[in-house]
Amino acid sequence: MLEKMEVKNLVKIFGPRPKLALQKLKEEWPKDKILKTTGQTVGVDNVSFSVKEGEFFVIMGLSGSGKSTLIRCLNLLNKPTAGEIIVDDENIVEYNNKQLREYRQKKVAMVFQNFGLFTHRTVLGNVEYGLEIRNIEKTKRRQIAMQVLESVGLKGWEDKMPLELSGGMQQRVGLARALANDPDILLMDEPFSALDPLIRRNMQVELLEIQSKLKKTIIFITHDINEAFKLGDRVAVMKDGKIVQQGTPEEILNNPSDEYIEDFVKSIDRTKVIQAKNIMKKPNALVSIKDGARVAVKEMQSADISSVFVIGENMKLEGIVTIDDCVEAVKKKQYSFQELLRHDYYIADPDEYIEDLLEKATKSKYPIVVVDDENKLIGIITRTSILAGLLP
Ligand SMILES: Nc1ncnc2c1ncn2[C@@H]1O[C@H](COP(=O)(O)OP(=O)(O)OP(=O)(O)O)[C@@H](O)[C@H]1O
Ligand SMILES: [Mg+2]
Repeated sequence: MLEKMEVKNLVKIFGPRPKLALQKLKEEWPKDKILKTTGQTVGVDNVSFSVKEGEFFVIMGLSGSGKSTLIRCLNLLNKPTAGEIIVDDENIVEYNNKQLREYRQKKVAMVFQNFGLFTHRTVLGNVEYGLEIRNIEKTKRRQIAMQVLESVGLKGWEDKMPLELSGGMQQRVGLARALANDPDILLMDEPFSALDPLIRRNMQVELLEIQSKLKKTIIFITHDINEAFKLGDRVAVMKDGKIVQQGTPEEILNNPSDEYIEDFVKSIDRTKVIQAKNIMKKPNALVSIKDGARVAVKEMQSADISSVFVIGENMKLEGIVTIDDCVEAVKKKQYSFQELLRHDYYIADPDEYIEDLLEKATKSKYPIVVVDDENKLIGIITRTSILAGLLP
């Protein structure tokens, strides 16, 4: 994947004497000392990261850690004090007004926590707004706006005023307005924080669907670690204006870099983060459908297990056989598998969360088998690996 955005050594200082504070930062003064002695607030402190095209990048951190300041730099609502923001090989910090206008109209769009809708415009009017200022012709912009509204589940609500809608629906309007210009990059500053938990979960799922369909590059802010880990391909954790750790949810979960992150990680529900593919393993033994009961017994014996999965060509899953059945069959000299194959095991998709596997695991006599879209066996999950996977 290509880098869509590269942020290099970004600094944002609030106050009339940013140069002075910048100097102190170089001398490695802490943020609170800089504030006390110079009166300047360090919003973002030397932050670097990059986001690939189509990636879902989440920025997480406690209140006041600099998340909003950082994301507002990415569309230059905040002018950085120092550093570079490279988007498609251009440093947007150096853009003139005309270039900046184009960047905001075509390449990025922002969704805000408090929706930020125009309350005197209809739902449709809100979604059309960005197209209007780009002088898109009236019937065309109506057509685009209607289509986008439908994609966020708001068909039929076009003529309502925003304040007639629930919070969840208002944020759908916010999302539709951002999508209307078909931007490459979506900037989302705690877009779901004001929503009820149930609505919030629905919106998360829908955002993931939109993402997989439209392949947008998304930079998303939250202070909720469960939301961060559910949505993010990679997550960056901020503290005092700095990024203190970045990586995949797995990496951060398994290797929190300091106490601050450990505290976040403690509060996470691991069943909602860890997926089948994270805990599955290669089976110790497998037999081919062309083998027979005798081979199966040998396999089970050497791996010390009481059942074994049977595969066909290209790892296609055919079934499972048990040690009891196979031993009986060998005694009766019935070596073929056909009558021995059982199918009363549970199948999981690699992306399934442990949350959804727990019940299956407790009910099942056999390991859960993980198969891909083509029914190829790619791993198995034992009760042991699930329970061990839940330990911090
Ligand atoms: N316009 C501003 N003028 C002066 N200081 C500011 C301004 N905006 C933010 N700050 C300061 O920058 C720091 C980071 O604030 P920011 O709003 O980015 O935090 P945040 O992580 O988004 O917090 P929250 O989770 O509460 O939204 C804080 O110390 C804040 O007081
Ligand atoms: Mg904020």
